[in-house]
Amino acid sequence: MDKLAIIGGRPLYGEVAISGAKNSALKVMAAALLTDKKLTLTNVPQLADVEMLARLLAQHGALIDFADGTLTLHAKDIASTEAPYDLVRKMRASFNVLGPLLAREGKAKVSLPGGCAIGARPVDLHLKALTAMGAQIELDEGYVIAEAPDGLKGADITWPFVSVGASEHTMLAAVLAKGVTVIENAAREPEIADLAACLNAMGAKIEGAGRSSIRIEGVDRLHAAEHRVLPDRIETGAYAMAVGATGGELTLTGTDSELLGAALAALKEAGLDIDDTEKGLRIKKTEARCKAVDIVTQPFPGFPTDLQAQFMALMATAEGAATIKETIFENRFMHAPELSRMGAQISVDGQNATVRGVARLKGAPVMATDLRASMSLVIAGLAAEGQTMVNRVYHLDRGFERLEEKLQNCGALIERVKD
Ligand code: EPZ
Repeated sequence: MDKLAIIGGRPLYGEVAISGAKNSALKVMAAALLTDKKLTLTNVPQLADVEMLARLLAQHGALIDFADGTLTLHAKDIASTEAPYDLVRKMRASFNVLGPLLAREGKAKVSLPGGCAIGARPVDLHLKALTAMGAQIELDEGYVIAEAPDGLKGADITWPFVSVGASEHTMLAAVLAKGVTVIENAAREPEIADLAACLNAMGAKIEGAGRSSIRIEGVDRLHAAEHRVLPDRIETGAYAMAVGATGGELTLTGTDSELLGAALAALKEAGLDIDDTEKGLRIKKTEARCKAVDIVTQPFPGFPTDLQAQFMALMATAEGAATIKETIFENRFMHAPELSRMGAQISVDGQNATVRGVARLKGAPVMATDLRASMSLVIAGLAAEGQTMVNRVYHLDRGFERLEEKLQNCGALIERVKD
């Protein structure tokens, strides 16, 4: 398994081109199963997760071409309505093929995704929405077996809490349902509006995506379309946090400060200068150390759970004590003990962590069990004195495009060590 060797202590200067959002690309890709016409996606990041979903879509019959960030998907015929365990187990977003297959073919058999390192992550809301739309659903030997022989029908759906995946999955199914579907308490993440924009470009009738009430009027069929995936707000935030930990000045091109939600205010409060310039988002550290800032993870526009680990690495080097409360996932502090191995002062109590900043972290061999946690260790390694070896780089390959190259171009000493 590849590792990343980092010699820390160098500030970052230069430009980083922010990639298309992984968590949007994975949903708009699933939309290709809704039509027998071609879907062309641009600004698609070259990531292990994107390739894995492309393999699953190919297995369902889609013809796929991916070059230079442009991904064309053409599901002229559906070859199989079954998504096997092996392909869904490795990546939860694969579960989202269920709705489109059911909407187009009237049946699907998709493996349940199961839990993962950050929490149990059930899919009950997804299944409730499909059931409300008239699907008959059975669970058998770890598979969801769903049927809607007469097609799906519109429904009124109210979530007890906000779920990004369930909101997206419901949209993906409802666009071809008969009648109107209304989702109340829908997630408002920018990726939801991006998926709706893609589906609308394909001929769907979705209103309100990006707000908490979404209205979807079903149509008979969707057509060919082209869609540009929005910039990755988590990658944007992670590079901004890297500047906060190491010092320097980065211009993040192809992105937008509005995507950061509450993370923008937290970074400014921590002492970073952040400006939208003609070239992109300019992040500059002017003080020797950032200040401690308390955060609570919340659905968008609150502070994103996907930046919590990276923010903890930043706070580990800040002046003062910060409390970090994780409210979205039950087990998302696995980076804390690894950061502690680098000299961070962190105590965890249930969903709360207290981080007392230290003047300097020390390099160490570390390892994380998920993508964002791995990025927090990279940030800590960039700030630390001496060498940090980040093990299990495959987590980072799932979600951060050309990470070492982007950092090397800004002066970081980081190298991939092949096994
Ligand atoms: C998406 O996951 C993202 N993944 C996650 O990013 C992100 O952390 C999360 O949204 C929150 O922003 C993708 O987009 C591929 P949820 P998702 O449904 O959709 C519970 C990353 O690192 N829940 O909003 O699975 C759930 O367990 C990943 O890129 C149910 O109980 O998140 C969680 O506690 C990690 N029942 C909460 O809701 C359900 O049916 C929010 O999860 C669905 C969710």
